This record gives sequence, structure tokens and C-alpha cells, in this order.
Amino acid sequence: RTPLKDLTDNYVGSAVAASALVNENDYRSVLTDEFSSVTAENAMKWSVLEPNRGQYDWSGADAIMDYARQHGKSVRGHTLVWHKQHPGWLNDLSASELRSAVKNHITTVVNRYEGEIRAWDVVNEVFNSDGTRRDSIFQRKLGDGWIADAFRWAHQADPSAKLYINDYNTGWVNDKSNAIYDLVRSLRQQGVPVHGVGFQTHLSIDYSFPGGFQSNLQRFADLGVDVAITEADVRMTLPVTDSKLTTQADYYERLWNACEAVSRCVEFTTWGYTDRHSWVPNTFDGQGAACLFDESLNPKPAYNRINPTA
Ligand code: XIL
Repeated sequence: RTPLKDLTDNYVGSAVAASALVNENDYRSVLTDEFSSVTAENAMKWSVLEPNRGQYDWSGADAIMDYARQHGKSVRGHTLVWHKQHPGWLNDLSASELRSAVKNHITTVVNRYEGEIRAWDVVNEVFNSDGTRRDSIFQRKLGDGWIADAFRWAHQADPSAKLYINDYNTGWVNDKSNAIYDLVRSLRQQGVPVHGVGFQTHLSIDYSFPGGFQSNLQRFADLGVDVAITEADVRMTLPVTDSKLTTQADYYERLWNACEAVSRCVEFTTWGYTDRHSWVPNTFDGQGAACLFDESLNPKPAYNRINPTA
């Protein structure tokens, strides 16, 4: 079969766990064959990189970058500022100390891989579902302007990286996607370097497919930014049945086709490619089987649906 990465001009990516990449030859080999881009599932998050102030652990992030260099893979950086998986020591800082810490973090991480990371998720999940700003320590202590600052600092550290805002449940027109739309428009009007909007698209077949997904991508593209599917998966209530796998295939196909149809959609990345390593069973009770490949790395009906040569 033709690998997924050769079916399209878009980047086709997967989130990867650094440990699996290093330890599992079969996992690494299918990843290398099928995908043109990788995202660190956890290895570039702040709590992993700097668990104690000033003490960095680059081992996982560097392992992923080494893999990418060796195999000519593009890298999506994930993520610079998020209200989850940031180190506990941040909580003790004053507002001005926190501001310096965020600037220093962004500068240090983005500089380290300057020129090698195609796109960074600069801020992740900064809105509530009603479109108000999420009440994170960043929002509380630094105020509304912190997002613009984060983008400016990232751009200074690597002018070649595409800088994204990323979120979930934004595939259709709703209060949250409207808030991102308004923010991106206003940041760009102010000359803030925002280049893309990431749609996580963690979907479930227990809910309907996001209505108007393609036209929603298009309205963001029409702001003059790239759009990307950054964390796709399609979970189901276990046990797996043929009919659930067929519905899952429908959902994956619609995601893939929407990105193909929107010229500024540049990337289709799944949040893990195999059910062997997926965050879903650990996160959603009784749910699983969300990926394109099964635990044995065999392609599932969803894979066969998006790959006509399979
Ligand atoms: C998840 C990872 O997959 C898990 O291993 C980790 O325990 C928690 O984070 N949205 C995101 C990702 O932006 O960073 C999250 O990744 C999944 C939801």
C-alpha cells in the first residue's frame, strides 16, 4: 500500500511517546513508513522539561528530535503554555516572577530547537466552552495580554516557526470557536505573530460528527492563517464491534477529507496512531480503540477508508 504520508501534500502526523519510540522497533518502523510529522505526546510539556526550577530534562524531547533528524520527519512542537502539565513551582511565583518564568521557558525551549520545529502550539486550551478565558494561573496573574506576549516571545526565539493556538471542541461554530476566531482576528490586526489555528478533534462516535467542520476550518483560513488537525482520534465505548469500526471510519474519513478540501489546512495529525499507545483508555472510562491501527499495528477499517490503496 501507499503510505498515508504519500497520499497528500499535507503533513500527516502522529503524537509519539518518547519511550515507545526508543524501545519498540515495530512501533518506530510503522511510524516511519506511514507518517511525515511527529508531535511529542508529553515530552515537550513544561512539567516534563523543567520539573524543578532551572533543572531541565531534555531526554525525551531530544530523543524525538534525533528520530526526526534521522528520518527526515517534520516536527510539531507541543505545547509551550497550558493550564495542565506545568510544574508545581509556578504556583508559588508572584505575577512578575511568573511573567519572567513564562518568557524564559518559551525562549529556552523554542531556541533549543530553532529552525527544526515547523509549528509550535504556543498556547493550548485557553478558552472555556462558553468563550470566556480559562481561569489558569497565567490568566489570573498575568491578565489578558499574556497570550499576545507568549506569541511575541516565541516568534523572537524562532522567526521561522509557525505559531498556533490549539484547542478542543472547536470543530463546529460555537462559543469557544467564536472566541478563538475573534482573538486570532484581533491579534493579527495588532500585528501579533499568530500563524495558525489547531483543531484537536478528539472525537467520539457516541456524539455526532462536528457539524459544518469543513466550513468552520475555512472561516479560520479566511482570516489568513493556516489550520491544522492536531490531535485527531475517534473513541468508542468498548467493546469494539464491526459497526462501531465502520462509524469510526466515517469520522476519520470526514476529518481527512475536510483537511484535503481546505487549501490552508496543512496537517492531519492523530493523537497516537495505534491502540497500543493511546491516552483514551486512561482518560475516558470504558472507552478505547480510538486510533487508525490496532494494538498489533494492523490497519483498521478507518485506515483502509482514508487510504484507497490499502
Ligand atoms: C495527553 C497525553 O496524551 C497523556 O499521555 C497525558 O497524560 C495527558 O495529556 N489535549 C492535549 C494533549 O493538548 O496534550 C493531551 O495529551 C490530550 C488532550
